[in-house]
Amino acid sequence: MCGIIGFVGNGEHETDALDVLMTGLSGLEYRGYDSAGVALGDTDLRVHKRQGEVSSLEETLEANEPGGESVGIGHTRWSTHGPPSDVNAHPHTDAEGRVAVVHNGIIENYQSLRTELREVGVTFQSDTDTEVVPHLIARGLEDGLDPESAFRAAIERLEGSYAIAAVFEGSETVYAARHESPLVLGLGEDGHYLASDVPAFIEYTDRVIYLDDGEFATLTGDSIRITDSDGEVVESSVETIEWDAEDAGKSGYDHYMLKEIHEQPTAIRECLRGRLNELTGRIELEELADIAFDGPVTFVACGTSYHAAMFGVSLLNRWGVPAQASLASEFTAETMPLTDDSLVVGVTQSGETADTMRALREANRAGATTLAVTNVVGSSAARETDHVLYIRAGPEIGVAATKTFASQQAALTMVAAALSDHRSRELIQSLRSIADAIQQVLDTSSAREVAHAYRDADAYFFIGRSLNYPVALEGALKLKEISYEHAEGFAAGELKHGPLALVGPNTAVFALVTGDGEEAEKTIGNVKEVEARGVPIVAVTDGQSDVERYADHVLEIPALEDVASSVVANVQLQLVSYWIANELGRSIDKPRHLAKSVTVE
Ligand code: F6R
Repeated sequence: MCGIIGFVGNGEHETDALDVLMTGLSGLEYRGYDSAGVALGDTDLRVHKRQGEVSSLEETLEANEPGGESVGIGHTRWSTHGPPSDVNAHPHTDAEGRVAVVHNGIIENYQSLRTELREVGVTFQSDTDTEVVPHLIARGLEDGLDPESAFRAAIERLEGSYAIAAVFEGSETVYAARHESPLVLGLGEDGHYLASDVPAFIEYTDRVIYLDDGEFATLTGDSIRITDSDGEVVESSVETIEWDAEDAGKSGYDHYMLKEIHEQPTAIRECLRGRLNELTGRIELEELADIAFDGPVTFVACGTSYHAAMFGVSLLNRWGVPAQASLASEFTAETMPLTDDSLVVGVTQSGETADTMRALREANRAGATTLAVTNVVGSSAARETDHVLYIRAGPEIGVAATKTFASQQAALTMVAAALSDHRSRELIQSLRSIADAIQQVLDTSSAREVAHAYRDADAYFFIGRSLNYPVALEGALKLKEISYEHAEGFAAGELKHGPLALVGPNTAVFALVTGDGEEAEKTIGNVKEVEARGVPIVAVTDGQSDVERYADHVLEIPALEDVASSVVANVQLQLVSYWIANELGRSIDKPRHLAKSVTVE
């Protein structure tokens, strides 16, 4: 996830492109803050870019850029290919600096395009997937195409996801294209805008057009022309945004947590992109291609990431590879003996958690092969392990992990399948089904009413079996951290071995019951034990069993295969936690006593 912005003025209000771009980049920083850059157009094309936050770019600009331009593009980066650095920052240009490009998304075929371009003498400056685009455009110009045709021809070569904007030397036009990454155009009195998200330009205009997949836009100060992939002009409707600049970073949501819960369909699609082969049923993780290990796989992680690790362990065991998860803070080489043949997987959203880093360093010292599954490119975990798989969830601002947990579940399913060489078209279909199913839950969930009904409960218990067990633990952790209420997660079968003594009429039991097999039947047995004691029950279910008969409330999810249903069921629990905390007036994005990245042991 990155943020892009573009502007072309019409000269009437003398709006300075640089001012617009910098305001826009600040509004988009929630989409990434690894580096920022701008390209300013018309007669010559000037590019300024720098590793770090937008404020670092500001310092560079103050020293070098007088401003006063009427056209430009900008970018704030969340790294996906290549670590954060000045050279990997956008905009990227061709060798002669005739065109500058900013991009949000992932170009899946960039390796083959790089090879092709190298063969005709192109030298690449960066490690990014994006840099192929200006070079492709430049080849079009050399072949005699005009800028628009060269831009379209380059875009047609791309596979993957993109929102792309380009400016050319000596031109006052911005060209843009969209495929599976957001792009919105703004119609102002002083010119035309484009951005990944409305917050970037809401200060200047609230009149917008949302570009659809496959569409191209050509922006000048006086006109916007939208065309489809065949070049036919498209008539698009102009909408008016109802919210204002104050709500902007959260795109109109009250909290980052709620926004990030709603970003999960996109996060999952990005996580899976280019990694599933429908034809062979294989999961293709080039990051794990030459990974060698013998013996059990050990996962180390903390908190939510530990729950994701448990999910990965269940799948590896299911597919015949012995695996275990250790809380990173409890991990030592004595308790988990390691050899040169061991594989240790660190699961960490931030890539900086001190407990997890200590465990990974200990594994490195013991000679084990290490793999980091993380969200942050260039993080300590990514740098200090032998292999790294990025979950591609985009930046998560809310302290409570939400979209990164869903992406970890998807990523660890792929890791488990790749390490066990488990090939299954059904599994691939199941992974593909997750994003739409989450969207369905987001559109229809009754979690808010359930939260209202139980906001005053004395305690909350979450039960689940098999893949739903880590989800029960995660449901409880989420609720306790943002509501400050007492919540516990249990393996459903364990309730009767002690915790059942805690339940009563003023506690709520959330039961995860999916599928219609033996596990569902057994969990329903545990639900009945609770129900017989007059305890309110909320069933999170896909309707495949008769658990609804014993439940006071039902949170529905679509009927899916079990890997997918565990990911989707968790979304209902996230929403319940959010709405309970909201009713109780808690500090949802920054819960008391907690931090996003815990860098002490
Ligand atoms: C809970 C939460 C924490 C983290 C834990 C590990 O919502 O976010 O429990 O999961 O601190 O953090 P990472 O994944 O960054 O290693």
